[in-house]
Amino acid sequence: MKIAILPGDGIGTEIVAEAIKVLQALDLSLTMETAPVGGAAYESHGHPLPESTLQLAKDADAILFGAVGDWKYDTLERSLRPEQAILGLRKHLGLFANFRPAICYEQLVNASSLKPELISGLDILIIRELTGDIYFGQPRGRRTATDGHFPGAEEAFDTMRYSRPEIERIAHVAFQAARTRKAAGSEGRVTSVDKANVLETFQFWKDVVTEVGQSYPDIALDHMYVDNAAMQLVKQPKRFDVVVTGNMFGDILSDEASMLTGSIGMLPSASLNSRNQGLYEPSHGSAPDIAGQGIANPLATILSAAMMLRFSLQQPEAAARIEKAVDTVLSQGLRTPDIYSAGTTKVSTREMGDAVVKALG
Ligand code: NAD
Ligand code: IPM
Ligand code: MN
Repeated sequence: MKIAILPGDGIGTEIVAEAIKVLQALDLSLTMETAPVGGAAYESHGHPLPESTLQLAKDADAILFGAVGDWKYDTLERSLRPEQAILGLRKHLGLFANFRPAICYEQLVNASSLKPELISGLDILIIRELTGDIYFGQPRGRRTATDGHFPGAEEAFDTMRYSRPEIERIAHVAFQAARTRKAAGSEGRVTSVDKANVLETFQFWKDVVTEVGQSYPDIALDHMYVDNAAMQLVKQPKRFDVVVTGNMFGDILSDEASMLTGSIGMLPSASLNSRNQGLYEPSHGSAPDIAGQGIANPLATILSAAMMLRFSLQQPEAAARIEKAVDTVLSQGLRTPDIYSAGTTKVSTREMGDAVVKALG
C-alpha cells in the first residue's frame, strides 16, 4: 500500500509528522513517499503542484495531505498560489465526494463555545461536493480597462455551475451514507442544503437531489436554504444526520460545524473519487497564525489517517485502533490549546502525537 505524503505549509508539516508517527506505529506494510506541495513547492519547483507531486499522488493508493497557504503568497497570480495545489489535486484525481464528519467526543463537550447539551452526543456527516460549483465554473476572471492585474480592474466574476451527473453522483453518495449510518442506528435522513430561492443552479440541485431520493424510500429527505442551515447548525445541530451540499456552501458549513466538535483542529476529512482512491486531510488550513509554535492540534489529521485506512486501504481494524486511541488521550485529559479547558492538561502538538501512539496499545 503506497501513500503519498504531502505536508504542505504552515502547521501542515507539524500535524502530518504526528499522523505519520501514528501510522508507523501500526506495523502495517505501508510505503510512504513525501513530496512538496503548496507554497513549499512554489519555493522549490516554482509551482504549487509540480508534475512530479501530481504523478506521485496519482500513483498512490491514498494521499495524506496537511494544508497549504500563507499570506505571503496572496499577491501571486492565482495559478501560482498555494491553494491551487489542493484544488488541482481534487480536480485531477476526480475527488468529488468530500466527507466531513462532525463528531463531538464526550470529553470535549466543554471545549466548544456552544452549550454542552446542544452538542453532547452529536454525530453528523457533512458531504460536500468538491469538484464543481462556483469553484470550477467558467467563465471566470477580471475585466480590466488596461488588461492589467488588480489596479484598474472594472469588474470580476466567477460562474456557479452544476451538471446533472455531478449532482446525481454526490446525491447517491449522500443517500448511501445515510443508509449505512441508519444500519448503525442513525435516523436515516439526508438534508440537502441549497439556495433555490435565489439561484438557478441550486433550484436544479434541489430538483435532481429530489429525483435521486426517490430511489431511497428508506431515507428521509428534506431541503433547507443555506442561510437557515447555518443558523440551525448552531441552534439544534442534532436535528441533522447527513447534510449534502455544493462546494462553496459545504466549505463554509463545515468550518461552522467544526465548532460543534470543540475545535476546527478536530474535524477530519476524506475526499474520494469513483475508484475509492482518496485524499485525506484535516478540514482546516495552514494556520499561519500559530505555525512553528508546536501548538497545533494534530487530531484532525490523525483522524483523517484513520479514515484513509478505512476507506482506501481496507484496514478497518487499524482505523478503529486510531480512533480508540484518540478517545483514550482525550479521556486522559490531554489537550492542545485549542481544546483546552480548566482541569485538563495542556500539551504540545508532538506530545499529543506521542500520546496517541502510546494509547494504540
Ligand atoms: P485556518 O483553518 O488555517 O485557520 C483558522 C483558525 O483556526 C486560525 O486561528 C488557526 O490558528 C486555527 N486552527 C486551524 N487549524 C488548527 C489546528 N489544527 N489546531 C489549532 N488551531 C487551528 O484558516 P485561515 O486562517 O482562513 O487560512 C490560512 C491559510 O490556509 C490560507 O492560505 C487558506 O487559503 C489556507 N487553507 C488551506 C486549506 C487546505 O489546505 N485544505 C484549508 C483551509 C484554508
Ligand atoms: C478547504 C479549504 C479550501 C477550499 C481552500 C484552501 C482552497 O478552505 O479545504 O476547506 O476552499 O476548499
Ligand atoms: Mn475550507
